Amino acid sequence: MDVELGALRLDAAATRRTPALMVLVADGFQTGGSDALSAWIGKALASGDFKTEAGRLMTSFGAPGLAAERLVLVGIGDGHPARVRKAVAAGVAALRAGAASAVTVCFAQQPQAVYAATLALVEAAYSYQTTKSRPDPKKKVPALKNALIGVPSAAVARADFERALGTAQGVALAREWANRPANHATPTLLAGAARQLAKRPGIDCQVLGPKDVAKLGMGAFQAVAQGSAEELRFIVLRYSGAGKSAAPVVLVGKGITFDTGGISIKPAPDMDQMKFDMGGAASVLGVFRALADLKPALNVIGLIPACENMPDGRAVKPGDVVSSLSGQTIEILNTDAEGRLVLCDALTYAERFKPRAVIDIATLTGACVVALGEVRSGLFAADEALGQALQTAGERALDPCWRMPLDDEYAEGLKTNFADVANVAGRFGGAITAAKFLQRFAKAYPWAHLDIAGTAWKQGANKGATGRPVGLLVEYLLALAADASAPKAGAKAKGRAARRAASA
Ligand code: BES
Ligand code: MN
Ligand code: ZN
Repeated sequence: MDVELGALRLDAAATRRTPALMVLVADGFQTGGSDALSAWIGKALASGDFKTEAGRLMTSFGAPGLAAERLVLVGIGDGHPARVRKAVAAGVAALRAGAASAVTVCFAQQPQAVYAATLALVEAAYSYQTTKSRPDPKKKVPALKNALIGVPSAAVARADFERALGTAQGVALAREWANRPANHATPTLLAGAARQLAKRPGIDCQVLGPKDVAKLGMGAFQAVAQGSAEELRFIVLRYSGAGKSAAPVVLVGKGITFDTGGISIKPAPDMDQMKFDMGGAASVLGVFRALADLKPALNVIGLIPACENMPDGRAVKPGDVVSSLSGQTIEILNTDAEGRLVLCDALTYAERFKPRAVIDIATLTGACVVALGEVRSGLFAADEALGQALQTAGERALDPCWRMPLDDEYAEGLKTNFADVANVAGRFGGAITAAKFLQRFAKAYPWAHLDIAGTAWKQGANKGATGRPVGLLVEYLLALAADASAPKAGAKAKGRAARRAASA
């Protein structure tokens, strides 16, 4: 869908010729306005057919006094952006069932959640097609192609609108790659997607193969990959939006393109879902897509260790001990705890960039799904300010996370007689013990970990990737860049301020 922003007041919306007009109405709408639209909304409310509660919908055709062919009133309750996003999605779904080719969206009141509305419009346009031979003939191709968001002052809303568009491009890319089946999203193909991104200005990409990774000494990453016929790839993306001397933020995305569990094999039911086990990697690709569009003034590195986790005659076995890039030896007690093994070597690799912050993103544990469900990602942060910044970014971007603990007592279970550390602890607190494992490899910089096992994709009828947490990460990065461009007290304090800003 092509989405635009334009100047349009509510009274003028009544006279606008458009196939469909969608009006978002919040609680407390002042009835009695003289224009045709206000009068219509007033009547609809008085009749009881329409209510402003979030998600309520009323569609009319050829409403008197309105130039629009169709009118959709959508309730947004208290007007919170999260409600607006859902309401717009519901409104678009209703219109898509019909023949309207374009829609004009406007708010009946202030404040106007332009970021949320834009995001919802672009999101509604995505549907997975890549591995279908032809469009499903039973599903009519939706006619809805264009959307205009009408606000009283387009200039005021422009920044929110652009931010949402850029973010939505990234979300769509992340969804697409996470949705692709493992045979259409191999480590090699993921590297190809990264190389495609590097065609955009400001982005560079470097791809390491099995020999490079062996030479570096990434024994943990290699151990996971060794059971698969697919070659591993270690992808390094660079976004340069600031001077060479500016310390980068490093994003590390888990790129297990399929997770069978390896020799500690998973049960068959729902194993197909493990094609989404590169959701972290997909979100890193998505963030770079957004960075290319939004061009914030900062430097970002993306690291993606990508491989399959397969059982095989050559596969790593429970009890095997491997040497990680950090030098720490790891006893692999469960080959299904593979995410932390590929991530730990990437976290050590991140040290060479002298980063201002490192954030890893991973569909890491089923335990996190049990703890937080599909609503909030698990956030683990050793650095207080970085944790706060990510939490705030999640709320602003409607991509929320929830802080989890990192007490050292949780690491007790990782002790072993046969190596420096084991890759699993007991059954309890599984999301936290996984984070404690990672923390051992992330001591050289401010670090945070996002467990997105519950949020990266949806189950059920709308099964598919969500593109999370691209929104959260883009919001965090834009806030960092905005902070750095704010005037500083003195040049001497600049370095300190920048370092603080990275985690603020
Ligand atoms: N990719 C899985 C985690 C996962 C499970 C994501 C379910 C989404 C839904 C991860 O590699 C894994 O298998 N984790 C194990 C860890 C255990 C062996 C300590 C798990 O969560 O069961
Ligand atoms: Mn696993
Ligand atoms: Zn996994």
